[in-house]
Amino acid sequence: MPQNPSRLRIVETPEELRRAPVDAAELREGAVLVRAAALEAPDTLPAVRQAVPWMRLWRDHPSWAGGYWRCVVDAEDDTPVYTAYRPRTLRFHTDMSRYLVPPEFTVIRCVTPDSAGGENLLLHIDDVFARLRELGRDDIIRFLTARRTLSMEARHLGPWVEGSGLEVDATASTQLAVAADPAAPCRIFDRHGATKGSHLDLSPADERLFDDFLDLCSDATDLAPQVRLESGDVLLFSNWRLLHARLACAGSGRVTEICMGDSAPTTEEPAA
Ligand SMILES: [Fe+2]
Repeated sequence: MPQNPSRLRIVETPEELRRAPVDAAELREGAVLVRAAALEAPDTLPAVRQAVPWMRLWRDHPSWAGGYWRCVVDAEDDTPVYTAYRPRTLRFHTDMSRYLVPPEFTVIRCVTPDSAGGENLLLHIDDVFARLRELGRDDIIRFLTARRTLSMEARHLGPWVEGSGLEVDATASTQLAVAADPAAPCRIFDRHGATKGSHLDLSPADERLFDDFLDLCSDATDLAPQVRLESGDVLLFSNWRLLHARLACAGSGRVTEICMGDSAPTTEEPAA
């Protein structure tokens, strides 16, 4: 049984998916696992379109130009392009947090499960803040809610900037990070999980607070649903409000395809 089942709905059948479709509001409150048996589509893009037909796919990174990124865990690769290719544990993180406005939703579809590991964990930022208050860690709350600068290249500004009302200089390498989600208590940045290199300007004291926050997330197993994905299963959640992690894989072979997207258009869809 998953821990904190209020943050995870499991859809087992096509009838259930039709009766209670997955919408953006639900994904902002918790994750949804749509089992392969509930989906007619045999491949990732059609399966994702079936699960969330309203979602506009994010394609603003070369690895996502085709609509999804394929993650193949390879224990033999000593210098992988992405940390997720390693079988080791991926700590809690959000995706694409170096972008001015990261995509709001992450969708993970399992192609080949790991033989014995690789479970995903989800943790809602509201639950983390409640735990921080219980523990009296106001120092971490202050750290998480502080506005801070973000080192990015012009391409990380994304098409959201046009028409967003944000005043940004597309040639600047450093921008003020803005919260994309006005209802979330803070913007969640990545530190060790998926990013290539640091994209936040942090003092040593802030780095310690960030690591304290991530340690606390890892310890919050009572708050985090743990999901084992089988072939064809699709896991969906808000990338703005839920952190996700992956437990260590037993070895090589786990294959997932990851889509991201928004509930509003971000880029033109290519013609079918
Ligand atoms: Fe991720």
